[in-house]
Amino acid sequence: MQNEAIDKPKRVLITGCSSGFGLLTAVEAAREGFDVVATMRNLDKAGPLQQALEKANLTAKIERLDVTDPVSIEKIVQKFSPIDVLINNAGILIAGSFLDLTEQECDKIFQTNYFGPVRLTRAVVGQMIQRKSGRIVNIASLAGLIGHPFNSAYAASKHALIGFTQSIRVELAPFGIDVVSVEPGYHKTEIIGANANQAERFYDRTSPMFEWNRGFLKAMFEEILPRAGDPQQVADLIVRIISCEKPKAHYIIGKDAAFAITFKSLGLWSWLEKQIIRKIRKYRRLENQREQEKRNRRKQTRAPS
Ligand SMILES: NC(=O)c1ccc[n+]([C@@H]2O[C@H](COP(=O)([O-])OP(=O)(O)OC[C@H]3O[C@@H](n4cnc5c(N)ncnc54)[C@H](OP(=O)(O)O)[C@@H]3O)[C@@H](O)[C@H]2O)c1
Repeated sequence: MQNEAIDKPKRVLITGCSSGFGLLTAVEAAREGFDVVATMRNLDKAGPLQQALEKANLTAKIERLDVTDPVSIEKIVQKFSPIDVLINNAGILIAGSFLDLTEQECDKIFQTNYFGPVRLTRAVVGQMIQRKSGRIVNIASLAGLIGHPFNSAYAASKHALIGFTQSIRVELAPFGIDVVSVEPGYHKTEIIGANANQAERFYDRTSPMFEWNRGFLKAMFEEILPRAGDPQQVADLIVRIISCEKPKAHYIIGKDAAFAITFKSLGLWSWLEKQIIRKIRKYRRLENQREQEKRNRRKQTRAPS
């Protein structure tokens, strides 16, 4: 005789599915036969996910959920309880030196990247404890394992998320609940595209960090972002994590992430820091030169003949 409880597909709740890892993971999880609740804070952005699902002849429930809004979390959890798997994916980044980030900007980052996953976890875990089974996957970052200059609040929020993950995985293990973190390096998603944010004061010329913010950004565009990885690989990894018998505590993914962590483990971290400073200094100088040349050209065109 077939057991209905065993045959029922596992329900996966994913946050931040309007683009990037969330969107791709929703599609891959649906392909693997999971009952996917793909959430996003703005349903006007559902088009790309709907199209991707249609193209693959798959279905998922698409719902509104803002991880900073406890009421929207409550609604979803009530509607779709019990959740078997939670994927805390939604995240934001606001670039800029720590001196130029406002408290509101830091708060926004922490509300989304740290308090959001904590809220979601608390909302779904009661049922998991009762059923003595469940899996929670927190999408952290390489920036949660090492510092990330000019992204200090983002790095701090991801360090906090990893600290949370490592702590509660021990608390929840006796209840048969696995808690895992994924730590990707740079990948080509909207967080470095349409969703890329800079601090309001990023280009404030009165800031002592003005030229360094600009140098950092140029270094990112020239050296880091062109080498960013394929986000499909992260989505595939996440689906492997939620499908396997027993996941590891954490997963590092991406060439840049593997490189940085290897350097750190070999005790070469300070050497790498020096290289980062050298690069940012180089692009700061080039940006200053470019600005000076622009000024000179403007002067020449304005000069009376
Ligand atoms: N791509 C990378 O290089 C990289 C590396 C390491 C870690 N990560 C992490 O991976 C996760 C996914 O990011 P991604 O790279 O796929 O970037 P993405 O394409 O920008 O996706 C981020 C998603 O989070 C959503 N989001 C933002 N604030 C939210 C909120 N308050 N409530 C609900 N959803 C919210 C965004 O929605 P909107 O469309 O409404 O803004 C979007 O759907 C993030 O946690 C990020 O920190 C990314």
